[in-house]
Amino acid sequence: MTNFAKRMAYMQATADVIRYLFDSMTDPETISFGGGAPAREALPVEHVHDIAAEVLTREKRGVQALQYGNPIGIPELRQAVVERLLAPKGLQSKLEQVLIVGGGIEGLNLICQLYLDPGDVILVESPTFVHAVEVFKMFEARCIACQTDDHGLVIEDVEAKIKQYSPKMIYVIPTFQNPSGRTLSLERRKALAELGSQSDVVILEDDPYAELRYSGEALPPVKYFDQTGHTIFANSFSKIFSPGSRLGYVFADASIVRKLYDAKTATNSHTNVVTQILCAEFFNRGLYDAHLKHICDIHRERRDVMMECIKTKLPAEIKSVYPDGGLFTWIELPEHIDTTELLRDAVAQKVAYMPGREFFVEGQPIRNNCMRISFGGVVPEKIQIGMDRLAHVIKSKL
Ligand SMILES: Cc1ncc(COP(=O)(O)O)c(C=O)c1O
Repeated sequence: MTNFAKRMAYMQATADVIRYLFDSMTDPETISFGGGAPAREALPVEHVHDIAAEVLTREKRGVQALQYGNPIGIPELRQAVVERLLAPKGLQSKLEQVLIVGGGIEGLNLICQLYLDPGDVILVESPTFVHAVEVFKMFEARCIACQTDDHGLVIEDVEAKIKQYSPKMIYVIPTFQNPSGRTLSLERRKALAELGSQSDVVILEDDPYAELRYSGEALPPVKYFDQTGHTIFANSFSKIFSPGSRLGYVFADASIVRKLYDAKTATNSHTNVVTQILCAEFFNRGLYDAHLKHICDIHRERRDVMMECIKTKLPAEIKSVYPDGGLFTWIELPEHIDTTELLRDAVAQKVAYMPGREFFVEGQPIRNNCMRISFGGVVPEKIQIGMDRLAHVIKSKL
């Protein structure tokens, strides 16, 4: 039966590249800079083991863990979000403003359910996160790219495109952006929040990398500058706790969270209670601060090794972004090199990356000569070897 809905065709090209990339990563010999996973050494396996053993054997929690839960999430985890994740960013939140979701992607999905009708326009960064574009396309939205520079979204271009397209939403990843590794400046964060309010457009702020800062000063989120409730803050536990647990949260005005509750109920009832309890206990036992320092140390070293390899191993004409945190850097090769085609040569040499093309949508030039390099999931020694291989492949095209 192949009579699929039209929306499946909109996302086919993107899905094909992602599938190819995942397939290439199953070869244990291949060093992959392709995925967006944190270091395996950054997963709190021991802590979760201890918590699970204790918590699940206590009768009441064991039953709670295996029973149906509340669509909004368990109060202990929502409280941890309010106190330990939002408050340190200067975001004052009441409990009823936080909804727990099954990972950051589900947060985006639910927000789209609230706001998008087919044909609605979403402004995005150029480049932007490929899976978010897939979600938007599933809602038959039209993604229009806005200009970016080293300080993130160019606000004048966003203003012009609001006038031209009357968008429903602006999607932004302000900190250590996926895929570029760039960070939106303080002034632009403020300007974007104000623009959302003035133009009555939803700002969908997706900020899963902000905690992973290895250098430079932390910046307040766009939501911090929001006076009118137009900014919705979506986040994930994938990079700071565990991606396999599939946990995330949305912080928004209580009236929006009530609607999200309805959409969540209709979608999948509630988020996995077992992982919610484990994660809540992880925070409430005070394990998070030391863990965050530990994972930042691991990823900082990988960032440093990667940036040194780019400087010393790749040809001088190649441009790259120096990220102050997160998991990615972005590389621009000479215009004539198509990184989607180059991936086959790279995989033959047992190294993989994410080609840049998939991160671009209409509204700005589609660039074929870029690649996203993820350093988070690769140990330093393998970063060296992988970058030797990649340098060899790139040099063969120059
Ligand atoms: C910008 C951005 N948003 C959302 C997500 C999704 O996170 P999750 O694993 O929680 O679905 C990711 C994951 O890579 C991401 O990079």
